[in-house]
Amino acid sequence: MNNKTLVVCGIQWGDEGKGKMTDYLAQQADVVVRFQGGNNAGHTITFDGNKYALQSIPSGIFSPHIVNVMANGMVINPKAAIGELEKLEERGIRDYQLFISDRAAVIMPYHIELDGAYESLKGGKQIGTTKKGIGPAYTDKAARIGIRMGDLLDPEYFAERLRDALAQKNMELKMFGKQEMNFDELYKEYLGYGEKLRKHICDTSILLNKLIQEGKKVLFEGAQGVMLCIDNGTYPFVTSSSPTAASVPLGAGIAPRYIDNVLGICKAYTTRVGAGPFPTEIEGDLANYIRERGHEYGTVTGRPRRVGYLDCVALRHACRVSGVTNLSIMLFDVLSGMEKLKICVGYELDGKRIDYVPSCLSALERCKPVYEELPGWTEEITEIRDYDRLPAQAKAYIRRIEELTGVQVAVVSVGPDRTQTINRKEIF
Ligand code: IMP
Repeated sequence: MNNKTLVVCGIQWGDEGKGKMTDYLAQQADVVVRFQGGNNAGHTITFDGNKYALQSIPSGIFSPHIVNVMANGMVINPKAAIGELEKLEERGIRDYQLFISDRAAVIMPYHIELDGAYESLKGGKQIGTTKKGIGPAYTDKAARIGIRMGDLLDPEYFAERLRDALAQKNMELKMFGKQEMNFDELYKEYLGYGEKLRKHICDTSILLNKLIQEGKKVLFEGAQGVMLCIDNGTYPFVTSSSPTAASVPLGAGIAPRYIDNVLGICKAYTTRVGAGPFPTEIEGDLANYIRERGHEYGTVTGRPRRVGYLDCVALRHACRVSGVTNLSIMLFDVLSGMEKLKICVGYELDGKRIDYVPSCLSALERCKPVYEELPGWTEEITEIRDYDRLPAQAKAYIRRIEELTGVQVAVVSVGPDRTQTINRKEIF
């Protein structure tokens, strides 16, 4: 088996702990690539007692030997990216390699304004976006009025693109009663960001193809999760890109045949931030217990996350559409101390048992989870590094996940630190 490229892919509604796994695997990688999304992601990485929160910068940034790529499928807020880099530099992370695609879409200030404005139009049906301008930036990309990172390096062309975009965007802002944006100010500011990032901006497709052909180990770092995928998620309560492995070739400018393995990252339970259907959601003491033990508050927005039992119907769906070859179960230690554990094994829709995720939101909202109950365990497991030393009930829980998804669990995470990881199988 060729293990040269690996996609790390969240398979729930985001926040599965991809940052930790990417950082853990990045120690063996030569290249780390972000291929979709933007600074709506919040990847938390903990090592040597320090905690770092990354939003748009790839998780390989801490290792000087790693080539970090922000590829063409991303939407990049250059001001925020520069801010992230400055914060890292203040904390001593100065020796890094970073390449930004000249084809990546730029998030402009009007995207951020319009993100909030369009949300407010939805009344009670708000998506609960991160308000980072992600949706409006992808909308402009599809509408062909987007600005790309490479445009910021060409003053004349950028002026033309910005003028055309602003003509439309100011009409939208006006419609919402918002202040129109000034061409000269935006132009100067963003040209400045282009200059600051100039040394990083290039054709990353050429770079990545070369590195892959040289046999380098490449890690593709997904943001969000498959259930938030614009195509395969719980539409319309989704993000505006596809976090699946299928979006890697397009978002990174490489051939589909270069994808070797896909590591699906999921929590031992489920969380969701923002609105939208969540069949296994729970409230009350148990939800609070999980929320506090798992520190389930958004890294980007600080919002308390909604909490629920593990939903294996959703996991099966995500594994299928993203071609997951192995699973990594995160925050497993959070479940210690729960007397009983429930796993959702199917849904009941209008009195009928189903084993798939319905495409239509109204049907999904009517789905009631069908649970199976498993015994819990009382021991803390944060110090365990050997799979066989886990309590028997913990191993039974993992085995059941494997049976229900048809995918082998390769990694079990028992704490936030790099070292708190049980590795059952070499995957990269
Ligand atoms: P947007 O990506 O900001 O447009 O938000 C769309 C939906 O995706 C909202 O429900 C957000 O809460 C959710 N979302 C976006 N990024 C993340 C993430 O990194 N983790 C979890 N949820 C996210």
